[in-house]
Parts: sequence; C-alpha cells; structure tokens
Amino acid sequence: MSKEPPKYKYVPDELWTTPDLKDIDAKKVVDLLLAALADEILAFHQYMLTAYAIKGPNSEEISEVFKKIAMDELNDHFTRIAERLQDFNVDIPDFRDFWSLSRCKQPPLPSDPYDIDAWLKAAIEAEECAIAYYREIYDYVKDRDVRTEELIEHILSDEIEHYTLFKNLLSKGKLKS
Ligand SMILES: [Fe+2]
Ligand SMILES: [Fe+2]
Repeated sequence: MSKEPPKYKYVPDELWTTPDLKDIDAKKVVDLLLAALADEILAFHQYMLTAYAIKGPNSEEISEVFKKIAMDELNDHFTRIAERLQDFNVDIPDFRDFWSLSRCKQPPLPSDPYDIDAWLKAAIEAEECAIAYYREIYDYVKDRDVRTEELIEHILSDEIEHYTLFKNLLSKGKLKS
C-alpha cells in the first residue's frame, strides 16, 4: 500500500481581511465559502458523471445540458469562489477534504442509466440544496461583506436557473423506448 502524501495547508494561521468587512467573522465567511467551493466541485462531478452515464433516446440532448451546467459549476462558480478565498489568503483545499467540507454532498445516484428522470431528480435535489445553502450564506454576509454578497447573489441566480432547466427536462427524460 502506498503512503498518502501529507495534506497541503490551504488555510493560513492568520487570515487576511479587508476594510470592507463590517462586524463579520472572516473565519466564518471562509468556512462558508470553503463548503460552497466543495459543493461546486461535487456538483461538477455529479453532472459530468451523469452526462456520460445516461442512455436512451433523449440522452444525447440531455447530456449536453448536463455538460453545460457542469462547466458553469466549475468555470464560473468554483473559480469565482476560489478567487474570493484568495482575498483571505486561503487556497484550494486538499482533494481529500472536499467531501467533508461539502454541505450538500451528493444525493444518491440512480443505478439505471435509462431512467433519465431519476438522474434529473438527483440534479434537482443538488440544486435545491445549493439554493438553500447560498441563501444561508447570503443572509450571513448581507451588508457586512459586500463582495461576497455580490458573488453569492450571482451564483444564486444561476442555481435557480439550473434548477428550472433540470425541472423542464423531466418530461423529456420520461420518453423511453
Ligand atoms: Fe454552482
Ligand atoms: Fe447549479
């Protein structure tokens, strides 16, 4: 058995703060953002996995939607949260920590690749959790950390869009041959 490498220390002993933070605990903001960052990479993983797993008459079209949304989670959300964490001098977590950091984790994934509705429902569940969690972060940072507030507002509106897109595909997934 090979020895696991030591973990990279991604949170410094002392965080950087900026004058725009008002009566807010920077450590708590960092913790909330690290959990969101983990949720984003797990969502990216879930949707890419789904895009390649699903089979059936409508799978190609639905697969493309999953891939597109996966890219939003990674290139937009994950990257923007990582940028904000840099303002606190916090880096990307060790990959082994992503699961424990994540708030939403991943819902159980279906075993039947032809049951596209079940895959869509898992995605809807992931988006519902993301929306609830981003609302929580928004409430915490509102008027006290404007840059994070703006970031969360942007992501939240995307997650609502993803939720709607997946919901609208539900009936299409049902068409089985
Ligand atoms: Fe996201
Ligand atoms: Fe999303």
